[in-house]
Amino acid sequence: MDKVIAIDGPSASGKSTLARNLSEALHIPYINTGSMFRATAWAAARRNIAWDDEKALENMLRTLTMEYRQSAAGDFELFCDDTFPGEELRSTEIAAGASKVGTLLSVRAELKRLQQQMSKIGWIVMEGRDIGTVIFPEAQFKFFVTASPMERARRRLAQEGDKAGGSLEEVAAAIAERDRQDSTRAVAPLKPAEDAELVDNSNMTYEETFNYIYNKVKDAVL
Ligand code: DC
Repeated sequence: MDKVIAIDGPSASGKSTLARNLSEALHIPYINTGSMFRATAWAAARRNIAWDDEKALENMLRTLTMEYRQSAAGDFELFCDDTFPGEELRSTEIAAGASKVGTLLSVRAELKRLQQQMSKIGWIVMEGRDIGTVIFPEAQFKFFVTASPMERARRRLAQEGDKAGGSLEEVAAAIAERDRQDSTRAVAPLKPAEDAELVDNSNMTYEETFNYIYNKVKDAVL
């Protein structure tokens, strides 16, 4: 069994906040794999490599270093070839690029190799879409965190306001459509591992969700 807490789930399910806070409470590294897909798109753009040029992306990833470093404030931040892209990774353009490069098999294979290396030093919490299914099928803990499209839309609107892209119903419909695309795509579809625990937090507060998972893992990790 790998000393990994795998947190998978759709966007706006609250999994990033959960994973970050678990990492802090358990004093173990936090790996946000979405950032690695975003960094791939970001590094490609800087090199004028197209987001669908599979061969060039594969070559780029073979030599690019991706490393998580802990900041003085305790955050785990992704560095690419010693450069810190920071907030640049959060733009909608880079998010679209991440989603594009994430459909390419060889990109996923290269990132998988890097992600698997990251568990060599001890316990980690790793968050993404396919951690429990593809990256660490032998993870000691697997959680699939989700909430209804309506509830996720509500949270997104509360967080992003006008930037969320429409009314509650419109945002919920866009989220449901993205779920459909993500869970039916051929490569690494978004789906719970058979042995993952499903945590639907539609009717749970953030604290309830956090405590539920924390209590399940703390004795093994601390
Ligand atoms: O979680 P996020 O929004 O930062 O993810 C960015 C993109 O990367 C998103 O389109 C899904 C994709 N992704 C993926 O395919 N597999 C992962 N393990 C993590 C992210």
